[in-house]
Amino acid sequence: MKSTVTPPGGRRGRRLKLTGLAALMVVTGTLTTAAAADRPAAPGASRVAVPLDRVVPAPVSVRPDAGTVFTLGAGDAIQASAGSADARAAADLLGSVLRRPTGYELPVTELRPGARADGIRIVLGGPNEVTHPEGYQLDVTKDAVTLRADRRAGLMNGVATLRQLLPVRVDARGRVDGPWTVAGGRVLDHPRYAYRGSMLDVARTFLPEKAVKRYIDTIARYKINYLHLHLTDDQGWRVEITSRPELTRIGGSSGLAGVTKGFYTKAQYASIVQYAWARGITVIPEIEGPDHAHAALASYAELNCDGTAPPVYSGFLKSDDGRLCVEKPVTYTFMDQVIGELATMTPGPYIHIGGDETQGRTPAQITEYFRKVSALVIKHGKKPIGWQESLPGLTPKGATATFWINGVNNDEVVAAGKAGAKIVMAPATEAYLDMKYTPEKPEYPTGNTWAGSTTVQDAYSWRPEAVLKGLPASAVTGVAAPLFTDTVFGYDTTEHLAFPRLLAIAELGWTREAGLNWTSFRERLAAQGPRLRQDGVNYYRAPGVPWPYGS
Ligand code: ACM
Repeated sequence: MKSTVTPPGGRRGRRLKLTGLAALMVVTGTLTTAAAADRPAAPGASRVAVPLDRVVPAPVSVRPDAGTVFTLGAGDAIQASAGSADARAAADLLGSVLRRPTGYELPVTELRPGARADGIRIVLGGPNEVTHPEGYQLDVTKDAVTLRADRRAGLMNGVATLRQLLPVRVDARGRVDGPWTVAGGRVLDHPRYAYRGSMLDVARTFLPEKAVKRYIDTIARYKINYLHLHLTDDQGWRVEITSRPELTRIGGSSGLAGVTKGFYTKAQYASIVQYAWARGITVIPEIEGPDHAHAALASYAELNCDGTAPPVYSGFLKSDDGRLCVEKPVTYTFMDQVIGELATMTPGPYIHIGGDETQGRTPAQITEYFRKVSALVIKHGKKPIGWQESLPGLTPKGATATFWINGVNNDEVVAAGKAGAKIVMAPATEAYLDMKYTPEKPEYPTGNTWAGSTTVQDAYSWRPEAVLKGLPASAVTGVAAPLFTDTVFGYDTTEHLAFPRLLAIAELGWTREAGLNWTSFRERLAAQGPRLRQDGVNYYRAPGVPWPYGS
């Protein structure tokens, strides 16, 4: 068990009462086949075009152009703004998604100014109605699909939407027949929050590079933009640090129940980071401390207060011997080396410094540890992010913290938020993907219960800005869905816990409050079922969602 803390007031003590949510405007419209002179619509195309609003997370605005349908042809190209690496990256991503099912060549070519609108066009900059840095505009006419954004992130988000607007067969793992239609109209869209995160605990249960990439593939569909990798904990150390080889030789040799060991070489870590970036996702590595550090303490005796290294640990609960010696200067020499190497390997802005569930320390010791460790992160050119308990040691301006549990240090979080810290909302009672879906054990053998059980509707029915009384709404920078793996033994069960609940959290992070509506969400979620199934994602066919045939 990762936590000995039970939320005060019981599992559902702060269940929010949802009132006054505006119903999502559902746009319907009968699409009829376009009478295209030079681009004939495929027979029956109108019946297979996905409505423009059938997207998770729900877009800001959708204007269907009834009667217009675009059909991708075998001779089409994906044209990207000339000279733009960002447009090229989005075009490459789209091409990699579309080539497999369509069997089309879909070359990526340079978009020439003034060229006739045709095929798929990815435009960086240029006129568009969206001003948000992560926003995009998608226009579909009978001749062309045009995606426009001011920045790379917007293009990546637009690609995720376009993928969902193509027929379900686009997610087939082999070549299938078209027609490859997209309903006509315009989508204008941007996220509500800057941080839409997913956390994967690869420390307790090591997930190999290939599994993490599969996970990235799936979360990228839903515009998740940060992947927080919980790389170290009591049960294992999962990333190579050249100056500290014992961390992986010893610390990487253990794992939950002794069966889930391993680590990423620097090359593998770099490959994961690059794979995520190519899909619009920034990796945030976490070095946990000062507790949950047994794997490091087993690797280097000097980090222990008594100078003796304990044997590696493969138990389920938090280790009592997993506490770094915060008084010793060598602890900070060690952290300096680790953070320094990690900063060099990590192009993203953040390094996560842990901080949860510290035991047997004084508040002054905790504050001092995080003051020193956050200074090391800044020294190496990165921004510190920690669990909420680290906040007293962080300088509020420029700090980010993940709120995961109510009742531990609410006042500190509120004070930090008022002083300029950014708070990512990941309340265990709603956003933890490792909680069981239902309290019934036979239904699902893995999953935690310490924060209760969480249905898909539970995961959807909370509001980030209402979690913590007194915290200014402006301090909430987003949401995250952590998945701790203390009851998870492989990638199949990881997927089963994460999906579909992660889609609920993704929508809370993206969609403006007036657009959040469970009835609408469950319909749109259901439409994702066959897509995930075709892609081989082992998602949970949760009750209460009208999953269609084929899902
Ligand atoms: C946590 O769940 N201990 C962050």
